[in-house]
Amino acid sequence: MCGIVGILGAKPVAEDLVDALRRLEYRGYDSAGVATVENGHLERRRAEGKLRNLSERLMREPLAGKAGIGHTRWATHGAPSERNAHPHMSENVCVVHNGIIENFRELREELTRAGAVFASDTDTEVVAHLISYEMRKGAEPVEATRNALGRLRGAFALAIIFAGHDNLMIGAREGSPLAVGHGDQQMFLGSDAIALAPFTDKVTYLEEGDWVVLHRESFEIRDRQGRKVERPMLTSQASGFLVDKGNHRHFMLKEIHEQAEVISHTLTNYMDMAAGTVRFPDLGVDLATVPRITISACGTAYYAGLVAKYWLERYARIPVEIDVASELRYREAPMPEGGLAVFVSQSGETADTLATLRYCKAAGQRIVSVVNVRNSTIARESHVVLPTLAGPEIGVASTKAFTCQLSALACLALAVARARGQLSEERERELVRALVEVPRHLTSLLRDERRYEELAHWFSKAKDVLYLGRGLSYPIALEGALKLKEISYIHAEGYAAGEMKHGPIALIDEKVPVVVVAPNDDLFEKTVSNMQEVAARGGQIVLVSDADRDSIGCEVAAHIRMPALHPFVTPLVYALPMQLIAYHTAVLMGTDVDQPRNLAKSVTVE
Ligand code: AGP
Repeated sequence: MCGIVGILGAKPVAEDLVDALRRLEYRGYDSAGVATVENGHLERRRAEGKLRNLSERLMREPLAGKAGIGHTRWATHGAPSERNAHPHMSENVCVVHNGIIENFRELREELTRAGAVFASDTDTEVVAHLISYEMRKGAEPVEATRNALGRLRGAFALAIIFAGHDNLMIGAREGSPLAVGHGDQQMFLGSDAIALAPFTDKVTYLEEGDWVVLHRESFEIRDRQGRKVERPMLTSQASGFLVDKGNHRHFMLKEIHEQAEVISHTLTNYMDMAAGTVRFPDLGVDLATVPRITISACGTAYYAGLVAKYWLERYARIPVEIDVASELRYREAPMPEGGLAVFVSQSGETADTLATLRYCKAAGQRIVSVVNVRNSTIARESHVVLPTLAGPEIGVASTKAFTCQLSALACLALAVARARGQLSEERERELVRALVEVPRHLTSLLRDERRYEELAHWFSKAKDVLYLGRGLSYPIALEGALKLKEISYIHAEGYAAGEMKHGPIALIDEKVPVVVVAPNDDLFEKTVSNMQEVAARGGQIVLVSDADRDSIGCEVAAHIRMPALHPFVTPLVYALPMQLIAYHTAVLMGTDVDQPRNLAKSVTVE
């Protein structure tokens, strides 16, 4: 994940910026940079690699200036290099950015036609040139920034400084977190309170769509319509921790809200955003001829693998075997010669998954792991590691790691499909575009959680809950049931919707909530039939769908309205309501949401 800092200080800020960036190193990065306003001019220093390279650069070429911004970059658009390191600047605007600007290509073309000269391959640079473009039309920095923000589409956080303005800094949040730090005649910006801890514990967290105009002696927060808004000033506990809950009640809720940001980073780690295609590491096998892919994992990670099975079979036309790790090796499942085995694990330490990895390795499989902890045991024993860039996941119930696993596996499926000649360039760009839009959909869905609080009052009284889904929605139904039972302790079961009539329908009565995961895809009509079977027996349906309520021909007790999505990406977006139903129910039940009873974050015993 990238890290952002900004300071309107009482003394030269360059070293303080680097200190703040050091506290964001846990996010992972491959280059860094700072910029300041010095005697009215924008001055910048950047360096590839670790922060010590930037510090050495600053020793050689010091920066003065009491207003500045800094950034640690995890390469997204453009290779990791000094040229692509932030901050990025135009003639009079300098910006650091965390997230994705989806529409950067068309903006870049428009600005180039208007005379802008781009120096990098990044999406970020268009923000600086776009604000300058607005200023050339006569707008002052604040109005120019507001106009520019209205043209950006995607999930991002920004910190911006301006030539000739030593007492002005602007921050903006749309999908990636950003906090304001309040000092004595000083102001700060940071990706989280951890970055601000050296300077202040008084923080204000911007909300989605907020942007803030900072001066040393004052600040003003506005919403996406430009209206002034008030946000609470909190006292952060971050000073002692490397990770904190921010302004969220639980780590789980913070991590649910981080998904737009961390999915952006995971996706762009496997994409050539400029070309709109997948850019994948060599897995060490010929994907065009590999005979089968075996997938194995546990719990939520297994459900991510199950989604990947559907993607690989549908788009890459490759046979896929999958089983939970605690079963696969004891079945002594035969392994094909030259096969590929993929292991999915947030912790990279799950004993069952590790043991099955060793079983497959001994059977001559090429071992690829999708992990969130880079130097974990599973990563170290794999031939190839595909990292998820979710950052530390503290809540025992996996949320952002799950959707980052899906992000990496979606890119794997496209890479395999392309290698097997199953994916035209045009189709690849269509599917990549659908993935790139996911963070914006999540940000939009997170604007209103009230409906989940209402559902929680109902679910908290239930003894049994069923989750139904077909196709790509079946693993999401399984994940929804797991989320609910593991943090609220309510019995819940995920089922293939088509299987209901083969027995489980006997469970249905008016006391049983039935969550139906049903995007309006090619299986929707089939799922509608299953819903009607449930409704006819008094089942209380919670429909999670982009379809109109009146298009299903039966009563539903509640309807969680979803955006229309490309079928390819529904698992990534439909995971969110599953998480929020479970979270709000557990909060109402008063359970220990972050550390549920009997559970461990990593199960290191078989
Ligand atoms: C997920 O909410 C659970 N905490 C659990 O199922 C978890 O996914 C499983 O134990 C696998 O853990 P791993 O991803 O670290 O291997």
